[in-house]
Amino acid sequence: MKKNLAVVGVQWGDEGKGKIVDILSANFSCVARYQGGHNAGHTVKVGSLTRVLHLIPSGIFHADVHCVIGNGVALDPEAFLEECAMLEAAGTNVAGRLFISNRCHLILPYHRAVEGAMEQSLGEGRIGTTSRGIGPAYEDKAGRRGLRVCDLLEPEGLDAKIRQQVDDKNRTLRSFGATLIDPEPICSAYSAYGAKLRAFVVDTSTLLNGLIRAGKTILFEGAQGTLLDLDHGTFPFVTSSSAAAGGAATGLGIAPKHVHAVMGVAKAYTTRVGSGPFPTEAEAGDDARIRERGREFGATTGRPRRCGWFDGPAARYAAAINGLDSLAVTKLDVLDTFAEIPFCVGYTYKGSPLNEFPPDAATLSRIEPQYRAFKGWTTSTSGIREWKDLPKAAQDYLKHLSEFVETPIAMVSTGAERDDTILIKN
Ligand code: GDP
Ligand code: IMO
Ligand code: MG
Repeated sequence: MKKNLAVVGVQWGDEGKGKIVDILSANFSCVARYQGGHNAGHTVKVGSLTRVLHLIPSGIFHADVHCVIGNGVALDPEAFLEECAMLEAAGTNVAGRLFISNRCHLILPYHRAVEGAMEQSLGEGRIGTTSRGIGPAYEDKAGRRGLRVCDLLEPEGLDAKIRQQVDDKNRTLRSFGATLIDPEPICSAYSAYGAKLRAFVVDTSTLLNGLIRAGKTILFEGAQGTLLDLDHGTFPFVTSSSAAAGGAATGLGIAPKHVHAVMGVAKAYTTRVGSGPFPTEAEAGDDARIRERGREFGATTGRPRRCGWFDGPAARYAAAINGLDSLAVTKLDVLDTFAEIPFCVGYTYKGSPLNEFPPDAATLSRIEPQYRAFKGWTTSTSGIREWKDLPKAAQDYLKHLSEFVETPIAMVSTGAERDDTILIKN
């Protein structure tokens, strides 16, 4: 049977999903994003060129692959058009093979304004969002007042809807003492987006179900990661969408039975950008060393990522939430210079072992990680392409990781380039 595959982040995002999806895309007819928005930053290296995609699926560099932005994505039209222009200017043709759902909810400038005011008011307790308006746009979706792509195609009434929303947001902004929004420039910009987007807009659920019926295969591309999932992540320090594999069905309008397998992408260590609990965060020296070796700076915001050790219990939790069939372990090479590599094998809370991943940030920020120290390999794995060529200590580390997460490893990444990858059969 031909298989559709969901590829999801196991940790707090930035696991290297872009690279993995780009490689796997060669085997699929279509790559579909099902959630998130331009808060994502997916880096793909094509030859000597590095491209960062925010909204457009990471399959776009394969000319015969169709790419879909599903209804579950929060779409900022300006960000989308900019990304299309960037790709076209670089010689990647998107016309006729990139599609946006007519049901995508839209991000408008007032979402960013409200988010900015809210984050500021939270002070030390802020989430540390990407400031793209993601949270407030999904709030409007759940509040049943959001504007959608289909509204842009029906310009009659659009201005009235925008003005009503601006009134509403201005009440909120006033209560925060923030600068109010003028609806007129938004009305004129968004009226123009309809014409610019029209060629991309279809009912993507119909498109995908048609591909499925025709026996074509689809890769479902997750953004963010399981620990940032609105339901299953480290709430409230999460994003506002369903990043885990369960989001693929609702975010695309396909039946869950069409998600045949799930691959989780995890770094060989852990990073997190933004606030919130991070049990295995390293001490300052190791944190800086990992960041420097791994170039751990946000692909969207440029913020330094917080760095730490592989969190076994969190990854095992993510494996269960997603029903992972396989793992892609990335950035192994970043650990090349460490003489000893701690691996978190359990949590204790108030002196007792915890058997479940805690639901609340307060507990999670107080748990004590229990580590097993692995011997480092202290030799370069950079660019290794065969399992047999990995040093024994690196093989042992990966075998333990796979056993702990109870998921076989299908891919190991040893560098940012497509070819710096070990494929493990079966
Ligand atoms: P994503 O959001 O999951 O797609 O990941 P990002 O693109 O935000 O961050 C991953 C970063 O690591 C990018 O800069 C990649 O080019 C880089 N990268 C991916 N795999 C590897 C690897 O195996 N080794 C190294 N050194 N870098 C990698
Ligand atoms: P990719 O797809 C890493 C984080 C933000 C913040 C929280 C909420 O590249 O892995 P938001 O703007 O979504 O409301 O911010 O989520 N965050 C990410 N962290 N990778 C991402 O995407 C992220 N998208 C959002 O830093 O902590
Ligand atoms: Mg990223």
